[in-house]
Amino acid sequence: MSTADQPVGHDSADSSTAAQADEQTPEMFTDPGLPYHRPRRADVDPKADKRAERQVAALFGLSILGTIIAIGSYLALDMTEEIASIRFVNMMIGLGLFLAMIGIGLGAVHWAKTLMRDHEMVEERHELRSSEEAREGAVQNLKDGVEDSGIGGVKRRPVLVGSLVGAIALAPLAVLFPQIGNMGGDWNTKKFAHTMWRKGTRLARDPDGTLIKASDVTIGSAFHVIPDGLNELEHHRIEEKAKAVVLLVRLDPRDLKIQPGREDWSFDGIVAYSKICTHVGCPVALYEQQTHHLLCPCHQSTFDVADGAKVVFGPAKRPLPQLPIAVDDEGYIVAQSDFHEPIGPSYWTRLKHTSDGLNDSSEGSSH
Ligand code: FES
Repeated sequence: MSTADQPVGHDSADSSTAAQADEQTPEMFTDPGLPYHRPRRADVDPKADKRAERQVAALFGLSILGTIIAIGSYLALDMTEEIASIRFVNMMIGLGLFLAMIGIGLGAVHWAKTLMRDHEMVEERHELRSSEEAREGAVQNLKDGVEDSGIGGVKRRPVLVGSLVGAIALAPLAVLFPQIGNMGGDWNTKKFAHTMWRKGTRLARDPDGTLIKASDVTIGSAFHVIPDGLNELEHHRIEEKAKAVVLLVRLDPRDLKIQPGREDWSFDGIVAYSKICTHVGCPVALYEQQTHHLLCPCHQSTFDVADGAKVVFGPAKRPLPQLPIAVDDEGYIVAQSDFHEPIGPSYWTRLKHTSDGLNDSSEGSSH
């Protein structure tokens, strides 16, 4: 279609609409000014002012109470090895911390909304540097704010200032006290290097503790394993379990790449590896039967069980430690010894605890 074929009247319709819009749009808007200032109850009613003050002080008091609960729970409650007891103590400390923090936060907000200065202020546009008069005015406004809030005038609101200072001074203790309390604990890192596994310890199913025979382990199956006797421990059962848990799998012996020096650590395709991830210690428990890969759900480190549990993907830097196993006279699977290296993530003295017989060449680059 040529230009000459364009419908006439289109341009004229556009220009008339624009002209109408011009007529309706004023060049300047009148300044509507500030909305009507509605004074708060505490501004006009001394009783409401006092009530708000008490509420703010109560919130700061709640914070102090929370700090006391957190510290008291840490000191007074006895944490046994039962999960329910651990949960209860942690819940009480957490509740104390929650109250300690929320009390200060709510108190400060309530103070600002009900008692601090509530005057609208207008700042006219001006060049970047304010005039001397405006600067002095700003300083004066700040002083007025401090004066109104009562922070600068201890004499005016001594209860508020005292309770705020008390709450702020005590709140960090709720966090620091348990940390400092733990610093006197056991710093012997050798205990990380050893687990419950000993020569002849039978492998048992987690959690019921029933023993595992080699004949129970079919090709492709995977067992979550604990040392026999773990469930009978009276003390430190959870700590020992956290170190000793193992994943037992059976592969077709033709798929298994036996690692140098570990020729007798497996039995007819059955291998056992620590379940504690060498990255930061999550349980590695997702076994993919077809690929023989073990996946850590935390950061997706993947270990190849068919090839010495070496890392094939993810942030872990070391293979999972292998537990040497054998089968006893009754057909039960037993450990030949403890792990030959510390299980789990690195720590500063790990290299010292690594067995001389193992070549842990990746240690230097580990996290
Ligand atoms: S803890 Fe396993 S990948 Fe991070």
